[in-house]
Amino acid sequence: MSKNVLITGGAGFIGSHLVKLFVRKYPDYKIYNLDALTYAGNLESLKEIEQSKNYEFVHGDILDLPFLENLLVEKNITHIIHLAAESHVDRSISDPLIFIKTNVLGTASLLQAARKFWKNQKDHLFYHVSTDEVYGSLGEEGYFYENTPYDPRSPYSASKASSDHFVRAFHHTYGLPVVLSNCSNNYGPYQFPEKLIPLFINNILEMKPLPVYGKGINIRDWMYVKDHAVAIDVIFHGGKIGDTYNIGGHNEWKNIDLIKLLCQQMDQKLNRPKGTSEKLITYVTDRAGHDMRYAIDASKIKNELNWVPSLQFEEGLSETIDWYLANKEWLANVTSGEYQNYYDQQYLKR
Ligand code: NAD
Ligand code: DAU
Repeated sequence: MSKNVLITGGAGFIGSHLVKLFVRKYPDYKIYNLDALTYAGNLESLKEIEQSKNYEFVHGDILDLPFLENLLVEKNITHIIHLAAESHVDRSISDPLIFIKTNVLGTASLLQAARKFWKNQKDHLFYHVSTDEVYGSLGEEGYFYENTPYDPRSPYSASKASSDHFVRAFHHTYGLPVVLSNCSNNYGPYQFPEKLIPLFINNILEMKPLPVYGKGINIRDWMYVKDHAVAIDVIFHGGKIGDTYNIGGHNEWKNIDLIKLLCQQMDQKLNRPKGTSEKLITYVTDRAGHDMRYAIDASKIKNELNWVPSLQFEEGLSETIDWYLANKEWLANVTSGEYQNYYDQQYLKR
């Protein structure tokens, strides 16, 4: 069946991979990419498909309800995959309100527009892309399951938890056909260099300090972004309405171990003497409320939808570094001007 799919946040990191996957794989679908182009959105990430017949970019804000209502009617949107968000934990600590606006009110506005327009619930879907951070922080043992109670601890995760609750509330109250997924830390090409891996790649290139928060002992479960996009595709087409799927790769890394691996790979690729990048490691004040460990149990998506990640981490990290080294212009463009000032100020505060 042909579908008119609205992907929000398609100029961001994960969204741009998802848009490219859908535009190429589903020529019968019309893909609309709605994005406000905040500091994190970049149309350069979509150059490869921007001329495709089944693709259209729409510049707009998910907080603008009348605009959303018109858009859904005008384009006859049948399906929504919602990724647009403020996504960086450190920014949520310095400026929580924009996270509440975009992530909570923005999601609620989109839900409200879909509810109004989708009179017949059949053949529609509202897919909410969420995070494992809603489950809180783990100790040394255990995993996040789909039924793990919510325990968000940063303004970012609290806003994502709230948006998840609204999505489920619209399903239970109004019968809106929804599905949700909660994924672990993504990495890969086109990630804005404020997140750990691209920030450190950029700093190593420029021989700048690598700010490791606290003792570097926090653990994250890393997922290659293209594997995440495939998982979203699989859930979009096969997920059960009303259900939630955890996405993760059983790929836990202590920050400092990951950083040392990154430093070694960078030295090799840049033909710098062994140990050059590690010398840039600088331990700084810990992130406030820093969650200790995230780890996803992804058995449900494996058993029900036959999805498993495709890439080993060392390979994915190497590909990621290669991409950044081959795309220094992209990196320079997105880090120029306002962002660089913002980053330098945040670094000085630590
Ligand atoms: P990102 O910050 O790279 O991109 C967010 C995009 O949303 C940007 O293009 C931005 O312009 C757009 N946007 C922001 N506010 C908007 C608004 N008001 N209206 C319209 N567009 C707006 O984010 P990402 O890392 O690609 O994450 C995408 C989604 O996936 C988010 O919902 C995030 O919570 C979730 N997620 C991210 C990760 C991760 O590791 N990055 C992991 C799990 C889940
Ligand atoms: O788990 C999924 C989440 O992963 C997503 O929902 C978020 O959108 C995404 O940003 C990410 O959140 P994290 O806070 O885990 O990612 P970040 O890259 O900011 O940090 C990864 C780890 O590295 C974390 O323990 C903090 C640490 N860190 C981060 C930065 C930016 C440092 O030690 N130094 C740094 O400069």
